[in-house]
Amino acid sequence: MTDQLHQAVHLLPMPVTLIGAKDGDQHNITTAAWINQISWNPLQLMVSISPQRYIHDMIARTGEFMVTIMGEGDRATAFFCGTRSGRNTDKLKELNLPTEPGEVIAVPRIKDALANLECKLVKSIVSGNHTLFIGEVAAADYKKGPRPLVLWQGELITI
Ligand SMILES: Cc1cc2nc3c(=O)[nH]c(=O)nc-3n(C[C@H](O)[C@H](O)[C@H](O)COP(=O)(O)O)c2cc1C
Repeated sequence: MTDQLHQAVHLLPMPVTLIGAKDGDQHNITTAAWINQISWNPLQLMVSISPQRYIHDMIARTGEFMVTIMGEGDRATAFFCGTRSGRNTDKLKELNLPTEPGEVIAVPRIKDALANLECKLVKSIVSGNHTLFIGEVAAADYKKGPRPLVLWQGELITI
């Protein structure tokens, strides 16, 4: 991509989330900013994940994923989970992140997060060098207060 294209696309504000998946005993969390709501009824989210990410095959295998919306206090967690792989790091253990069981899916929620959205995979679409995982939101929790983290011009900012 040319510099001009990069700079233009970096003006898109993107929500910073943790994507969680659980395959057997293994629970992994990965930072993802290429995510959006794509349907209201049914309520569906789409997250774009590279096949190179460890979480990619975990989602494909289990058919479930958790979307945790990150707040203003979560910069370090977002950076950590976006620069380490579950292949060789137990990110939850390293961060000592408290979790609680999901209501509908096997993937745990991140406790005290701005929001947790439990998604059941309804469709996977390979597009370019990423896979678009479309999930239907089956259950959720949220809290009011912290402002969401957004990736904008290559930086994590709050809005
Ligand atoms: C702010 C931020 C946003 C990211 N967004 C995405 C994304 O939307 N899709 C993706 O495939 N990788 C994204 N990444 C990269 C992954 O989070 C990173 O490669 C991670 O280490 C993969 O972990 P895993 O191998 O345990 O799945 C992002 C990283 C950061 C720091």
